[in-house]
Amino acid sequence: MPSDDRSAAVPTTDDPSARAESLRRQIRRHSHLYYVRDAPEITDAEYDALFKALQDIEAAHPEVVTPDTPTLAIGGPPVGAFGKVLHPHPMLSLDNAFSPDGVRAWGERVLRRLADVDPDVAVDVDHDVDPDVDRDITSNGEVTADALTYVLEPKVDGVAVALRYRDGVLVQGATRGDGTLGEDITANVRTIRGVPLRIPAVDGPLPDGVVIPADLEVRGEVYLPLDGFAAMNERALAIEGRTYANPRNAAAGSLRQLDSSITASRPLRLITYGVPDPHALGVASHWDLLNALEAIGLPGNPDRRRFTDLDAALAYADAWLARRSSLNYLADGIVLKVDRLALQDALGSVSHHPRWAVAYKTASEEATTVVVAINVNVGRTGKLVPHATLEPVGIGGVTVSQATLHNEDYVTERDIRVGDTVLVKRAGEVIPQVIKVVPELRPSDALPWHMPDRCPVCGEPVTRTPGEADTYCTNAACPEQLVRHVEHFVARGAMDIDGLGEKLVAQFVSDGLIADVADLYNLVPADLEGREGFAEKRIANVIAAIDASRHRPVRRLLIGLGIRHVGSTVAAALAGAFGGLDALAAADEAALTAVDGVGPEIAASVVAWFAVPRNRALVERLTAAGVRVADPDWVPPAVASAASDGSTLPLSGKKLVLTGTLPTMTRDEAAARIEAAGGKVVGSVSAKTDYVVAGEAAGSKLAKAVELGVAVIDEAGLIDLVGSGIQM
Ligand code: IVH
Repeated sequence: MPSDDRSAAVPTTDDPSARAESLRRQIRRHSHLYYVRDAPEITDAEYDALFKALQDIEAAHPEVVTPDTPTLAIGGPPVGAFGKVLHPHPMLSLDNAFSPDGVRAWGERVLRRLADVDPDVAVDVDHDVDPDVDRDITSNGEVTADALTYVLEPKVDGVAVALRYRDGVLVQGATRGDGTLGEDITANVRTIRGVPLRIPAVDGPLPDGVVIPADLEVRGEVYLPLDGFAAMNERALAIEGRTYANPRNAAAGSLRQLDSSITASRPLRLITYGVPDPHALGVASHWDLLNALEAIGLPGNPDRRRFTDLDAALAYADAWLARRSSLNYLADGIVLKVDRLALQDALGSVSHHPRWAVAYKTASEEATTVVVAINVNVGRTGKLVPHATLEPVGIGGVTVSQATLHNEDYVTERDIRVGDTVLVKRAGEVIPQVIKVVPELRPSDALPWHMPDRCPVCGEPVTRTPGEADTYCTNAACPEQLVRHVEHFVARGAMDIDGLGEKLVAQFVSDGLIADVADLYNLVPADLEGREGFAEKRIANVIAAIDASRHRPVRRLLIGLGIRHVGSTVAAALAGAFGGLDALAAADEAALTAVDGVGPEIAASVVAWFAVPRNRALVERLTAAGVRVADPDWVPPAVASAASDGSTLPLSGKKLVLTGTLPTMTRDEAAARIEAAGGKVVGSVSAKTDYVVAGEAAGSKLAKAVELGVAVIDEAGLIDLVGSGIQM
C-alpha cells in the first residue's frame, strides 16, 4: 500500500533518467526546506518515499546515477546567525525499512557483506566477541546469522546534536546542519536539563574497562516531551496568541534561540545514541557503549534492548511500535544496529548512512482515496467547517471515510475538488486530514469548490471577515448552532448535565422549546413525556441533572458559554481572577491581560463576547434561572495564591537560587514572584536546584550551577517561567 500511494508523487514518464532528475529536484528542495528553513512542506513519510523512489530507480538503472545525487549526500547548508562547527566525522543519516521484510533484507545485506569482506577482518572479529557467540564465526571467518547481535533503540523525533567534552567538560554543542557543517549552539545546549556540563556526572566506578577519552564527541537527539510541548503551546497561545505545529519544530525553534535564557525555559530533553569513535571508550559493542554513556551521565533510552536473533528483534520492534503512541515523546520508528563494533567497522558506511544500522518505520499513516463529496458542518459558534466524504480507505488499521477540510482557504489553496484522488493522513488521535490532491488523476469534469454563500442549515447568509480564515452563519438563532452550543454546554467538562443526548437536544430545538441554553432551566417533565425512550424515571433523572448543574463553579459555566479561546485553563484563570460573570463582564482588556495566562487575543474575545446584547441577555436569563454566576467562596487572587498548596502552579516543587543583581527586580520582588508561582527560594546551589537566576556580578553560585549542570536563567527567563502562572 505505501509504495503504491507514494508513487503518486513520482512523475509518470517512462524515461528513468528524467524521472530520477525530477525526483532529485524535489528532494533537494524539500531537503532545503527541512534542514535550512525549518519549514517542511511535506511529511517525513513523503520525503522518505521520494528518497526511496530515487534509490530504487538508481539501483535499477545505475547509468542514471549522477555525482551530485542526494542519495550520495545529505541535507543542505545551515543558516547564518550562529557560529559554524565543522563535524570531523560527518553526521550521517539512516537507511530506512518500512516492513519486517525490509528489515530482513537489510539483515541479509549485512550478512552477505560480512561474508564477502576480507577474511582477516572476520578473524579479528573473532577476538572481540562473547565466547558463546563465537562458535558461529567459523575459523575461516565465515559469519552466520547467529554470530550477530542487534541493538534496538527508539528513533526519537527531535533535533540531532553533537556534544563535545574536552577533559570531561562540555565545551561545544552543535546541530547537524548539512551533516558536515553545523551550528554552534553551545550556550543553548548547556541549558537543557539532563545534559551534564561535566562528565562523569555521577560518582562511582565506571564499568569495567571503560575510559573517558580526553576528547569525546557524543551524539544524540534533543526533543520535547509531549506534556512539556502541550504546556509550552498553552503558554504560547496565551502570551503570543500562536502555537507550534509539532514537538519537533518546537524543539528546533527552542534550540535556535539566540537568547539562551529562552531555551532554558523550554522543557527540552536529550537522549544519546552514539559516538563517532566508540573504541576510544574501551568498549567492544554498541550495547556496552550505550551503557558506558549512561554510566558517565549521558541519558540513554530505557527502551533499548539487545537480541541475538533478528526475528526476536523484529518481534520486539513491532511490539514497541504498537505502543509508541502511549509514550511521552514522538518517535518516527525504531533503529536496529549491528552490535559489535568490529562488525560495524567491517561493514562501514556509504555517504548517506552506515551499513550497520537501519531505521524501521511503520507502514505509512497515509493513503490515497477519492473525494466523494464536500459538505459543510455548522459549529456552535456558527463556524462553517467543510469536510470531505471519502471512498473508505484503511489507514493504519482504521477505516477512514471522512476528513476535515478546516476552512475555505484550506480547500482553495490545495484546489480540492469532488472526484479528486487525494492523499489522506491520519496521525494518532487526530481527525484525518486531506494533505493534497494528485492532479494527474483528476477527472476532466471536476469543478472547483466554493464555500456556499448561505448557511446549509438555516439558509441565512454567511459572512467572512477579510483577513480571517473562517466563515460564519450570521443567524444567531440558527438551529444547528444552537444544538451544538447546547451539546457543548451540557458536556462533561462544562455544566456536566447527563442524559441530554444530541437527538433530544435537536428535538427540543426543532420543537421550539429551547432558543438558548438558559431555556434548559425552564424545562419541565411534561416537555419530555411521550418522547421515545423517556419513561418516568429517566425524565426525573434528566430534570434532576439540569437542576444540579445550577451549582457548578463559575469556571464550568464559563467553559459552557463557549466564548472563543476560553477553554478549561483560561476559564479557570478568569474565574480565579474575577470570581463571577458580573466582574468579568465589567473588565476591560487591560484588566483581563493582567491575568496570568490571558493574552491580548483572549482578552479581546472576552470583551467582544460581553459586548453582544444577546450574550448579556443570556447571562441575565441564566442568573434569573438560578444558575450560579459568582463563586460564593471566592477570594481575590493575592490571598488565594498564598493559601494555595501550589500543586498546579508553574514552579510548584521547584527550587531556585537567586544570585547577582537583576536588572529590574529587587531580590525580595523576585523571591515573592517565585513563591507566588509555587517555587521555593533556597540559599545555596546543589544538584537538587532546578534553576539559578543570575544577574549582574553573580559569583560563586553561578560557577557552582555551571559545574553541576543546573539550568541558569536571567530575569527575562524568570519572568517567562512565572509569567505562565495560571491559577486554577
Ligand atoms: S543513529 C550514524 N540512532 O535519526 C547513525 N539516530 O535519520 C546515525 N535518530 O540524524 C544516527 N534516534 O538525529 C541514530 N537511536 C538513534 C536515533 C537516531 C533518532 C535520528 C538522528 C539522525 C536521524 C537519521
